[in-house]
Amino acid sequence: MKKIVVLSGAGISAESGIPTFRASDGLWENHRIEDVATPEAWERNPTLVQNFYNERRKQALSVQPNAGHLALVKLEEKYDVTIITQNVDNLHEKAGSSTVIHLHGELSKSRSCVDETLIYDIEGWEIKAEERCEKGSPLRPHIVWFGEAVPMMDIAASVTQEADIFIVVGTSLNVYPAAGLIFAVQKGVPIYVVDPYSPEIQKRANITFIAEPATIGLTQLADQLMR
Ligand code: APR
Repeated sequence: MKKIVVLSGAGISAESGIPTFRASDGLWENHRIEDVATPEAWERNPTLVQNFYNERRKQALSVQPNAGHLALVKLEEKYDVTIITQNVDNLHEKAGSSTVIHLHGELSKSRSCVDETLIYDIEGWEIKAEERCEKGSPLRPHIVWFGEAVPMMDIAASVTQEADIFIVVGTSLNVYPAAGLIFAVQKGVPIYVVDPYSPEIQKRANITFIAEPATIGLTQLADQLMR
């Protein structure tokens, strides 16, 4: 079976109703990164940070996967598909994708502030201020904040090196190290980029740009790859 590796970003969930980060009405237009998405923000004002992610989680629970997520599930009928996502929602899993690597963490999980190996599923939308891990420390969102290491990066890079086909969807490729994965794709491997406003990527002979929203672009691409 040929291997497809997908790098997805906020754009794939846009049509499900989750705003992207860098659009003019996006999440970072309305919130300062340094107030809600850094370890320093958590030190300064854990309540503000906790509330921010509680709201994100509430929203993520209320939305459904779209035709873009479903097209990637369809590809599993013919290919070995691994999705590397920068998204913290679980719409790929909800759609039915079987192998999903979350580079930037998962909204649906909390973790200990003193032991990063203690990770818990969250019931519902809220991490409550009084909740503690089994070592007695408060729980934080299981999110990779700006300035933190990206523990899944090594595995994402080695999976990318194994790709026979690489698909990039819905990411502005602004944030490293995730954006650098494209350089781990082997020479000669076809790369498809699905994004209505194609991001800046160094031109390579084997890149095909599909300037469509994910629902349309991924459906078209999956039809083509399933033939
Ligand atoms: N279908 C496909 N792509 C879309 C759609 C759509 N319907 N709507 C918007 N896009 C594209 C935009 O053109 C843009 O290129 O999705 C991309 C979204 O980019 P960002 O908002 O920068 O999101 P992302 O690349 O996922 O951000 C990376 O940065 O803020 C941090 O940790 C956060 O994981 C996030 C990371």
